[in-house]
Amino acid sequence: MRFRFHFFDTLASTNDTAREKFYRHGDVIVADAQTAGRGQRGNVWSSSPGLNLMFSVVLEPVFLPAAEQFRLLQCVALSLSDMFGSYGLDARIKWTNDIYVGDRKIVGVLMEQSLRGGYMDRCVVGIGINVNQRQFEPWVPNPTSMSLETGREFDCRQVLDAFCVALDRRYGRLCGGEADVIAADYLRRMYRLDTESGFVLPTGERVTGTVRGVGPCGELIVEFEGGVRKSFLFSEIRFVI
Ligand code: BTN
Repeated sequence: MRFRFHFFDTLASTNDTAREKFYRHGDVIVADAQTAGRGQRGNVWSSSPGLNLMFSVVLEPVFLPAAEQFRLLQCVALSLSDMFGSYGLDARIKWTNDIYVGDRKIVGVLMEQSLRGGYMDRCVVGIGINVNQRQFEPWVPNPTSMSLETGREFDCRQVLDAFCVALDRRYGRLCGGEADVIAADYLRRMYRLDTESGFVLPTGERVTGTVRGVGPCGELIVEFEGGVRKSFLFSEIRFVI
């Protein structure tokens, strides 16, 4: 894939800019600062200007059936985990696609896609990587950064390039029909796989179970006492961390 980089000092949200029709497959919108950075579940994404990476990649995986869109998300999460591996960091994928080091979040991903005729059309992959930030707003839940984890400073541009190399490889495998390899690798890198964990359900109820994997549409498979397995969609369960 050939990436074309577009650098901005400040944007409202790189995802909003990337959604403009002008940007196509391979365009990467990067901002030093965002005034209205968005996170999952309607949250705000907070990131200190100039210290971290905030960018959105435009992908047009028109070969991918809408029912298999989770494969793209796996591909992105694995690329991030690959990239951290190249810096010696053992980064795990917290279902669905947060990236964690230990019990702390180092990356947030916000994917926004459109579909056409039962296939994926255009996907904006918004990524916020905590690179050199060492202090976070008190309300940000369990954050960490590359700098906090290693005691070093990093060149954000190099980190971005390393991610794009990893994404190119993983996306190439997806295009090449190797979705099974991606799924197997995703499973191996899952946060708290086969480890008993606490969860919260939408009712507020707390339950204990063990993550056993993901289903074909990306649903989380959790095993409860007595070996009963249930699958959950994104809005149906949250880890207690
Ligand atoms: C989350 O974990 O809640 C997802 C956070 C995603 C943040 C990134 S920063 C670049 C891109 N632009 C946005 O407005 N959000 C994403």
